[in-house]
Amino acid sequence: MYRIGQEEVDAVARVIAGKTLFRVNNAGQEVDNFEKEWAAAIGAEYALCVSGGTGALICALAGMGIGPGDEVIVPGYTFMATALAVAAVGAIPVIAEIDDTLTLDPRDVEEKITPQTKAVIPVHINGFPADMESLTAIAGKYGLKILEDCCQADGGSYKGKRLGSWGVAGAYSFNDYKILTAGEGGAMVTDDPLIYERALVFHDGGASFRPYTSGLSIPVFAAQQYRISEVTGAILRVQLSRLEGILSDLRALKRQYMEELSGEPGITFLRSNDIDGDCGTTLGFIFPDEASAQAFAGTDGVMGGIPINSGKHVYSNWEPILNHNIWHHPAFNPFNLEQNKGLRIDYSVDMCPATLDILKRTVLLPLQLDKPEAEAASRIDACRRAVRSLATAGVVS
Ligand SMILES: Cc1ncc(COP(=O)(O)O)c(C=O)c1O
Repeated sequence: MYRIGQEEVDAVARVIAGKTLFRVNNAGQEVDNFEKEWAAAIGAEYALCVSGGTGALICALAGMGIGPGDEVIVPGYTFMATALAVAAVGAIPVIAEIDDTLTLDPRDVEEKITPQTKAVIPVHINGFPADMESLTAIAGKYGLKILEDCCQADGGSYKGKRLGSWGVAGAYSFNDYKILTAGEGGAMVTDDPLIYERALVFHDGGASFRPYTSGLSIPVFAAQQYRISEVTGAILRVQLSRLEGILSDLRALKRQYMEELSGEPGITFLRSNDIDGDCGTTLGFIFPDEASAQAFAGTDGVMGGIPINSGKHVYSNWEPILNHNIWHHPAFNPFNLEQNKGLRIDYSVDMCPATLDILKRTVLLPLQLDKPEAEAASRIDACRRAVRSLATAGVVS
């Protein structure tokens, strides 16, 4: 959570006072308005609010018509939800390498494409934009669809265009750790009316009696339930009004760290695909080896994390995927489906060695606003001390 306050309290009070908590009975109000405002903010035709980022990915994949018989390429460094969403629609996640930006490596994506590949999910992890230009070119060459996982990058951009508007669809999370938050919540966006309509029906299990169904170009089908309430919609509308302020303050803070530390012998910042579009939530350094990354991260006051230790963000810890242990019933398990026989379903913990190597040598500093840990000066000082002691030991230069 970056910023929240009295305006959110007032918005929630307004919804409760009006006794209008169910979005379906409150058309044209909080959730409907947030969807319009979010679509406009991203530069997309349609937005659909759902219960979380995972739900947004699942609804987008459903909207894209992805299912059994399809392979979908995901990076080996992302929260496991990205891969679980693929499995949730009956398709097979294929795990690809990241590069030194911590985002999907376009060269490895091209290596992993088979005739069954239908889609690619670049993840703008830690607010770092993926290389959308190269990925879009590859998708065009092989006829693949791109779904952007923007769950850690609400509002970021790449080459002046918002993240989520490069692919055929984008998915966002508004859980407690995200740039905008309502505690829980998510949204998907698209310009494609068919993707939107399928996602709309998919997200609202009992859609058959909704007034909107009469205007649809597709038949209504029964699916899942990912709706959100007017309370969430009201909070998100206020959060959206804070977006530009949050992003510009985070970016300014990140710039301050980078300006003050650049030129310090031994400091190498993570490469960025677009530093101007980067969300500023995270500052990343890369070191020649794991020991120096650990020494730097562990220095008093640095408060750094090494992403190899980030649990279910690293593919080698995705046991349910690696062990084919998906769904409550074996007949629903995508790894058992006849249509998925012969697809790339074999995984191993060391299948993406470049990813593991990069994640061991990287140190990430989450940046905060309006909190004691946002005090930059002492943390920058700690980074300087840490790298100088590595330089003195001759580990970095
Ligand atoms: C990259 C990524 N994708 C998907 C998700 C899932 O979002 P949610 O927790 O809102 O379902 C997350 C959440 O942490 C995430 O970081």
